[in-house]
Amino acid sequence: MHGELPGEWKTDHPLVREFMATIAPIFASSAPLEERLARARPIFERLLLTDGWLEERFQRSDPQGGMGSGIGNWLLYRAEDEGLALFSLVVDPGQSTPVHDHLRWGLIGLYRGHQLERFYRRVDDGARLVLVQERECSRGAIYELIPPEGDIHSVTTISDEPSISIHLLGGDIGCLWRHRYDLEHGIAVPFRSGYSNAPCRDAAPGS
Ligand SMILES: [Fe+2]
Repeated sequence: MHGELPGEWKTDHPLVREFMATIAPIFASSAPLEERLARARPIFERLLLTDGWLEERFQRSDPQGGMGSGIGNWLLYRAEDEGLALFSLVVDPGQSTPVHDHLRWGLIGLYRGHQLERFYRRVDDGARLVLVQERECSRGAIYELIPPEGDIHSVTTISDEPSISIHLLGGDIGCLWRHRYDLEHGIAVPFRSGYSNAPCRDAAPGS
């Protein structure tokens, strides 16, 4: 499929454009989310196992990045209606994201390096979390984020090289107000990660 998908593009690479043109109709369908994710997985896996499509500028850390710890958060594509976004997350060796939620479905896959993913669930209606799963991911590994119960995690790079994960989200996630979690105190802090290479269309509250 080679149709041009409307939206905001930060990459011109034909493989990414072809990937999104194939993926977008799957998520526009009325099939159950689990079915749509299952259909997208093998297409996503092929992209993750292919070299050469992610430009160098999307493989860098970002000292100013909104995830903290120098994490790069590089937008590749987002839909006009803000219903779909693709970006790369670059985490230096030994660095971690905060524990955070997404509030949208997500399909995440490893492209470079190794990551330790920690998944959490709420233990009550508040912000107290319990760790439910830890797993190591290497190239081609894919996992899903499904709110409201299955979308809280953190990511740590456990390789000697930076890890790069590719994130397909059911929303303009960098511009969405969501939460990072203070595990020790059991509180959720509103935050917006932004993107390293694209402003959000609306201003932050109070700014
Ligand atoms: Fe995440």
